[in-house]
Amino acid sequence: MADISNNFVGIKSPNPFWLASAPPTDKAYNVERAFKAGWGGVVWKTLGEEGPPIVNVNGPRYGAIWGADRRLLGLNNIELITDRDLHLNLREIKEVKAKWPDRAMIVSLMVPCEEQAWKSILPLVEETGADGIELNFGCPHGMSERGMGAAVGQVPEYIEMVTRWCKQTTRMPVIVKLTPNISDIRYPARAAKAGGADAVSLINTVSSIVSVNLDDFSPEPSIDGKGSHGGYCGPAVKPIALNMVAEIGRDEETVGLPISGIGGITTWRDAAEFLALGAGNVQVCTAAMTYGFKIVEEMISGLEAWMDSKGHRTLDDVIGRATPNVTDWQYLNLNYVTKAKINQDTCIKCGRCHIACEDTSHQAITNMLNGERHFEVIDEECVGCNLCVNVCPVESCITMEQVPAGQMDARTGKKVVKKYSNWTEHPNNPSIVAAE
Ligand SMILES: Cc1cc2nc3c(=O)[nH]c(=O)nc-3n(C[C@H](O)[C@H](O)[C@H](O)COP(=O)(O)O)c2cc1C
Ligand code: SF4
Ligand code: SF4
Repeated sequence: MADISNNFVGIKSPNPFWLASAPPTDKAYNVERAFKAGWGGVVWKTLGEEGPPIVNVNGPRYGAIWGADRRLLGLNNIELITDRDLHLNLREIKEVKAKWPDRAMIVSLMVPCEEQAWKSILPLVEETGADGIELNFGCPHGMSERGMGAAVGQVPEYIEMVTRWCKQTTRMPVIVKLTPNISDIRYPARAAKAGGADAVSLINTVSSIVSVNLDDFSPEPSIDGKGSHGGYCGPAVKPIALNMVAEIGRDEETVGLPISGIGGITTWRDAAEFLALGAGNVQVCTAAMTYGFKIVEEMISGLEAWMDSKGHRTLDDVIGRATPNVTDWQYLNLNYVTKAKINQDTCIKCGRCHIACEDTSHQAITNMLNGERHFEVIDEECVGCNLCVNVCPVESCITMEQVPAGQMDARTGKKVVKKYSNWTEHPNNPSIVAAE
């Protein structure tokens, strides 16, 4: 059986599945239920500075996007950091950590961007016996209006400064949680590294308005007729998160910087993809909020079963394995040729592939043969774009088949060449002409 125990910047947990800082980790009751269900660790719901507790709205704080089967695809929230008393949280963190010593206990923090504020809270957290801290530079709503969260995470110089303050003050590992609400994720990651961060975690939520009520024209979730942008998460944000994780993993300036992957992770497969792109472990929020804590059982057994089937013995056999395969467009092999192929036995003749290709792609799928509905790819027109595969309602009914080297590409009339060749050496590339 594969060993999925995790050592993330020296923080050990029995598996790589941590709950992200959010309502599931808001109090001892939840966290203990999570540990009983099998979660390897938690990042406690973000604590703020001492003083009157944070005030949340009293109306709806969530909005959502669903698939046609009502499955939740994206969740939007306007919740702030913890609205519970700081000392109550600290007491509970200490108690839970003492009861569950083998689980990772990370404490998420967000205080004003002032040295003293950070330096005051760190000893209090250290005293709980927590394994590490996560600096929340990501929250896109509410707290950012007060100069915290994403307001810090969008300015690399602030990230570096606050990270350095924390590293100077605490013995605990410092994980810097990044906001995706920035044009190039490499800059905040580099700043975290420059400040001495032990790791980065990403992504926090994506700034968003999830829907508008067309009766009273209020953005949702609507609070007395008004709405505010919130933070978007869940399966819909996974592609954004994967790309950002990969960008940091392959950036020469941050290569080797440990990454805790977050964003839309719902299944073991999602988690394995994050690991493959360089995440040292993963964090989950929306999936737990949608399906409950026991979802981790399938994540654990699925990851173990997959690793066994592939002969991967530990997580190190998986982590970062896909990173070298992420490249820039200009290095993709232009001699790799594919054509779509429709399995006539499984095709239900719905016509979606035909209309997609006919109206918006390359007119490469028939819809009639001898007066009957018949869907077949015309190789002379097919550019291999994969659109039909993505719109077909029957899984694996359309497959993309590679045209082997030596065979004619019916569309171009040219023989497919085995040799790898990319845009940088293509005769149509104007920069080659300019260089000659
Ligand atoms: C209701 C809600 C509250 C959240 N609160 C926090 C928070 O206090 N601190 C934090 O760092 N992230 C917070 N997050 C963001 C999550 O930790 C996580 O980064 C994000 O939801 C993406 O993961 P997911 O797609 O698995 O949900 C919150 C998310 C939700 C849905
Ligand atoms: S791969 Fe693209 S071009 Fe080819 S049949 Fe499908 S949609 Fe048309
Ligand atoms: S979309 Fe799929 S099922 Fe529908 S006609 Fe095309 S191949 Fe057949």
